Amino acid sequence: MSSPLVVLIIGGGSNVGAHVAQKLKTEGYRVAIGSRNPDSEALKRQGLLPVSVDGADSKSIKDAFKLVRDHLGEPNVVVYNLGLHIPPKSPNDPLAVSAEDFAKTSNVGGGVLVAAQEALASFRSSKNSNAPKVFISTGNLLPFIKKTVPSFFALDLQKGIMATTMQYANQFYTEEGFRFHYATLVGPDGGIPNLSSDAKEGFFTTGGPAHAEAYWNLISRAEAETWDYRFTYDGKKFG
Ligand SMILES: NC(=O)c1ccc[n+]([C@@H]2O[C@H](COP(=O)([O-])OP(=O)(O)OC[C@H]3O[C@@H](n4cnc5c(N)ncnc54)[C@H](OP(=O)(O)O)[C@@H]3O)[C@@H](O)[C@H]2O)c1
Repeated sequence: MSSPLVVLIIGGGSNVGAHVAQKLKTEGYRVAIGSRNPDSEALKRQGLLPVSVDGADSKSIKDAFKLVRDHLGEPNVVVYNLGLHIPPKSPNDPLAVSAEDFAKTSNVGGGVLVAAQEALASFRSSKNSNAPKVFISTGNLLPFIKKTVPSFFALDLQKGIMATTMQYANQFYTEEGFRFHYATLVGPDGGIPNLSSDAKEGFFTTGGPAHAEAYWNLISRAEAETWDYRFTYDGKKFG
């Protein structure tokens, strides 16, 4: 008997999370979508499993995996979609970030380790199924354009933790058939995408469907892709 296809999205709201959830549901996945305050009734009406999870808290992440295992089965795809940016009081003074805000920002980065450890356990426990085993962290370009945007110092470190974790994991678990990606929407020139709320094409306007398309391409493709995966507004690989 084949195992069900199961995805857990951690940090899923109305943009990337919702679009990735709907795409995978259409492709036959059982979908669990988690945030700190999910709209459980609305999600249930859409046929999704709502999960209360704080991606900055290790125990909460472990509990979320347990809930998904109990209700849907072992996840074979995990999307870690979190990003926390707390603007510092002084934009050109990176060390002006408070220790508390820095800790909160770092914890969201650290949550990716726990989520990846849980995903690895799930992938191994369903090793004999043909389902793809894929972990995707939603990225941005900060780890690659370092030290140029002081107000994003703490977010740069957070995304750096995610990127480095994906890089190591993609390299060292590839022989087991597991894939780990840091996936980033970029603009047509490969730079930061348009972030305006009224952009014809941009992260907050067309970014949801672009992520859904790109993540499905990563999940469904036969050949492995690089850990640092960049895609554009049409969801296709950049470059
Ligand atoms: N490519 C780029 O340049 C670029 C640009 C902008 C953003 N991004 C990335 O895109 C991702 C976000 O995408 P989006 O805004 O479209 O997301 P989204 O699907 O709209 O959902 C984000 C959800 O995350 C939840 N959340 C926030 N903090 C959380 C926590 N500690 N634990 C669990 N859930 C939490 C929030 O719900 P609750 O309040 O209920 O928790 C929110 O609804 C981030 O990784 C961000 O860094 C990339």
